[in-house]
Amino acid sequence: MALTEALEETARHAAPDDAAPDAAPDQAPATPLLRVKGVTKMYGGRIGCAAVSFDLWPGEVLGIVGESGSGKSTLLGCLSGQLRPDAGEVIFDTSAQGPVDTLKLAEPQRRLLARTDWAFVHQNPRDGLRMGVSAGGNVGERLMATGARHYGRIRASAEDWLGRVEIDPTRIDDRPRQFSGGMQQRLQIARNLVSGPRLVFMDEPTGGLDVSVQARLLDLLRGLVRDMGLSAVLVTHDLAVVRLLADRLMVMKGGRVVEAGLTDQVLDDPQHAYTQLLVSSVLQV
Ligand SMILES: Nc1ncnc2c1ncn2[C@@H]1O[C@H](COP(=O)(O)OP(=O)(O)OP(=O)(O)O)[C@@H](O)[C@H]1O
Ligand SMILES: [Mg+2]
Repeated sequence: MALTEALEETARHAAPDDAAPDAAPDQAPATPLLRVKGVTKMYGGRIGCAAVSFDLWPGEVLGIVGESGSGKSTLLGCLSGQLRPDAGEVIFDTSAQGPVDTLKLAEPQRRLLARTDWAFVHQNPRDGLRMGVSAGGNVGERLMATGARHYGRIRASAEDWLGRVEIDPTRIDDRPRQFSGGMQQRLQIARNLVSGPRLVFMDEPTGGLDVSVQARLLDLLRGLVRDMGLSAVLVTHDLAVVRLLADRLMVMKGGRVVEAGLTDQVLDDPQHAYTQLLVSSVLQV
């Protein structure tokens, strides 16, 4: 029941045009799902990220690229409530209350958001999974956080999701450590998506995996993003990953955004010298 509702909620936000029939004709334009204004985070005297602003629209995937140390993870941490920025606003269009500045939310409310409307796929699956709990438990736990209580239905959803991420559902009672790295990453994705989040944060979701495993995971992610109409903020230093998954791209250097635009435009016709270097160095690999 909760899953159905959550999925319907996702679908509604993914397809604002289709949701329009019963809306008033003079309805205000759709609101961004996430509105980020001037987010700044310092580590002592060092810039983590500075004055980052952007809007993310429902159903959109935003890629964030830049060299190591350019502030990608810091920014993602600030957006997802894991780090406290020194300045700025992170306004999320909640299903319950409409747009709220998540930085002003009380900690329990922010945690609730993190378990329901948001999902976070970590580079290292160990950071996103409960290693002592079975695969089914890892997936079911997220469902329970959104109110599911019926054991049989939770288990059935978990089995379904294991299948969707190409893990044999008969392994539902195995622990994550009995899985390969690629399987653990797919399990982390299932755990995150089962509850129908409206916004997914991903930090190098294919990093640390070997190339053939990466390709398969990317393919899977692309299918899920498309089918579920997911909105996502995706951090990576792999331009092939953003080319495949991101509608729009932000390029960071030294904690600041140096270029932003449609992914194909930025990659095919980079304007900033740093982006040109980034693109050309990839071509040389
Ligand atoms: N906990 C911390 N304490 C102090 N400085 C930090 C901390 N975390 C990050 N920094 C600094 O903030 C800057 C941005 O780091 P961040 O981890 O956000 O980069 P990144 O783009 O995610 O890099 P990578 O691609 O290597 O993951 C760097 O100069 C880094 O040294
Ligand atoms: Mg990082």
